[in-house]
Amino acid sequence: MRGRLIQGGSCKAKSVLLDGLKDHLRTIKRSGRIVFIGRGTSYNAALATRPILVELSGIPITMEVASDLLDRQGPIYREDTTVFVSQSGETADTLHALECALENGALCVGITNTVGSAIARNTHCGVHINAGAEIGVASTKAYTSQIVVMAMLALAIGGDAISNQARREAIIDGLFELPNIKVKEVLKLDQEIKDLPKLLIAEQSLLVFGRGYNYATALERALKVKEVALMHSEGILAGEMKHGPLALVDENLPIVVIATRDACFSKQQSVIQQLHACNGRLVVMCSKGDAASVSVCGSCRVIEVPQVEDYLQPVINVVPL
Ligand code: F6R
Repeated sequence: MRGRLIQGGSCKAKSVLLDGLKDHLRTIKRSGRIVFIGRGTSYNAALATRPILVELSGIPITMEVASDLLDRQGPIYREDTTVFVSQSGETADTLHALECALENGALCVGITNTVGSAIARNTHCGVHINAGAEIGVASTKAYTSQIVVMAMLALAIGGDAISNQARREAIIDGLFELPNIKVKEVLKLDQEIKDLPKLLIAEQSLLVFGRGYNYATALERALKVKEVALMHSEGILAGEMKHGPLALVDENLPIVVIATRDACFSKQQSVIQQLHACNGRLVVMCSKGDAASVSVCGSCRVIEVPQVEDYLQPVINVVPL
């Protein structure tokens, strides 16, 4: 964020400066649609920022898994802005989708972590996430940095409309607070979180329920449990609980429910009650101070995390998960 987020002052408004996009921002703002394209974690990061992008840009936003877009030969139009999200900047399907977008005349934006990568070189403009080299598979820093960059992109596209100025300023303040205050605070859960896998190590499967701002968090955590713990795990859209997943619930299957404070909180409270009624073995993630409101069962394990602006909560929640 350094050098990109402007704190503002007595005569200067809080704002965002993304140098790599400044010559193309007008075109992006005028595009008929913005299509985000990525795979795996990068796709999940884009999905996590869909709510803020939809609200601030005022432009139709679609999300595409690169391989699926290619399989379907999904249409990309000249009036589209396509945004290619990739940590490495070299993922084959994302690159093929970029070739299609270039052929169809769309504006192509790259969001990568790798300077000089194929996506960085072949897109018209873009933003580097500057997360440092990816060393381990559980690339939480790439995921969280991608979300932060796409939140800044939403702010840049949203421009300086008076109507959303208060909202924009709250998000900018929230971004400033993330690294040194809120993430530092959530890292203090270290020991508590280290104890949790001891309860899960012998299990075959782990479900993660999320919705709204944190559906992507559920998908991303399940992805990492598969890749790092080599254990079956699924991210479940909590609103779809009754349409399949509920049939799996019993006293043995561990389930993580993300129920931090946002517009979906009361719906998640009701999901927790229904899972409890089916004897679900629950670990609930909630905002600090909400333990009593979510632990209907008394027996369920609760992880309390610091609360931040709803759009930025996925950055906090993904760290202990
Ligand atoms: C997850 C993971 C993969 C990548 C995906 C996209 O840990 O490593 O799911 O996220 O292959 O890779 P990039 O972001 O390099 O395009």
